[in-house]
Amino acid sequence: MAEEFTVTPWEVTGKIDYELLQKKFGTVSIDEKLLKRLEKYGEIHPMLRRGIFYSHRDLNQLLDKFDKGEKFVLYTGRGPSGNTHLGHMMPWMFCKWIQDIFDVPMLFQMTDDEKFLFQDLTLEETRKMAYENALDFVALGFNPEKTKIILDTENIKTLYPIALKVSKKITFSTARAVFGFDNSTNIGSIFYTSIQAAPAFLPTEEAGKEVPCLIPCGIDQDPHFRAARDVAPGLGYPKPAMMYCKMFPGLGGGDKMSSSDQNATIYATDGPKAVKKKIGRAFTGGRVSVEEQREKGGNPEICAVFMYFFYMFEEDDAKLNERAERCKAGGILCGECKNELTSRINVFLEDHQARREKARGIVGNMTYDGFEWNKGGE
Ligand code: TRP
Repeated sequence: MAEEFTVTPWEVTGKIDYELLQKKFGTVSIDEKLLKRLEKYGEIHPMLRRGIFYSHRDLNQLLDKFDKGEKFVLYTGRGPSGNTHLGHMMPWMFCKWIQDIFDVPMLFQMTDDEKFLFQDLTLEETRKMAYENALDFVALGFNPEKTKIILDTENIKTLYPIALKVSKKITFSTARAVFGFDNSTNIGSIFYTSIQAAPAFLPTEEAGKEVPCLIPCGIDQDPHFRAARDVAPGLGYPKPAMMYCKMFPGLGGGDKMSSSDQNATIYATDGPKAVKKKIGRAFTGGRVSVEEQREKGGNPEICAVFMYFFYMFEEDDAKLNERAERCKAGGILCGECKNELTSRINVFLEDHQARREKARGIVGNMTYDGFEWNKGGE
């Protein structure tokens, strides 16, 4: 029946059954009731409406506190192993929306240490990538007054005391069970999860009182935060609330856009020609011939091009449905969809790349150097 799939912080393969994953990890559905509640704060983001951000932990508790005047801190991150692609930017865009509607501070962790430890990269390479990736993050327009970037090897002095406390509470046997480590795992990797947990607790540590934290990210990161949440109460930190999204699909029809398959991946720095070429080769739900497609219609459900409209490039539900219906009725051919998608992505990227250049002037000021967590609260 169900095909095999793997979702860990280091590996995402196979056809992902997101319901099953949610059950396995023990996270909770973002259901209609929760969407109704979120609607009170601002117009629901398409990623929520479409079930892309589909799962959570303790979001209701976080909102209860917010309603009582307790502001939370947003936290997400990036392992700088290569160029930023659309899949990386998806949760960041979502964070931007949360920051806008709740007017909260945001922490962005760049784990140059993680990618050094887990991949065949030098520290110089991961640090350089961290800078490049940070430009894409900043380009999304976060409030520069309220957004701070943590680069692990740079900000280690801030993170280390917290990471130490976390690491003392996590045994090797837990880490092994959660992450599948074995005797050949390097010991830096075993410690790493405490570094990824640290920013979630940093505001509480610095404010000297509990500051709630919300972490929107891909569901593949849950193992880290499960561990972080488990140790939080014992250290006097609030458990971070989580909002999880599905993996951004690859152009080859897979479940995740992969950095290793450059032709099935749209990078934030791709030019119009590269985009045209990649979309041109994308896996679609089309038929073998034009005649057959006109007669029998295509299948948007398996189509990578349609997925791109669904995930990021068609916010209007009515228009998205209309596209699906026209496809199924044979009224639109793959070439047409591909052309439309190509031009939408290129418009988006042209704008993004201009803002990315401007980000070079701001990114330095956003480096973490302490933050007044209570400022402008209540
Ligand atoms: N481990 C993440 C990655 O490989 C990077 C990361 C650090 C992160 N802190 C985070 C992701 C917090 C989400 C939320 O990309």
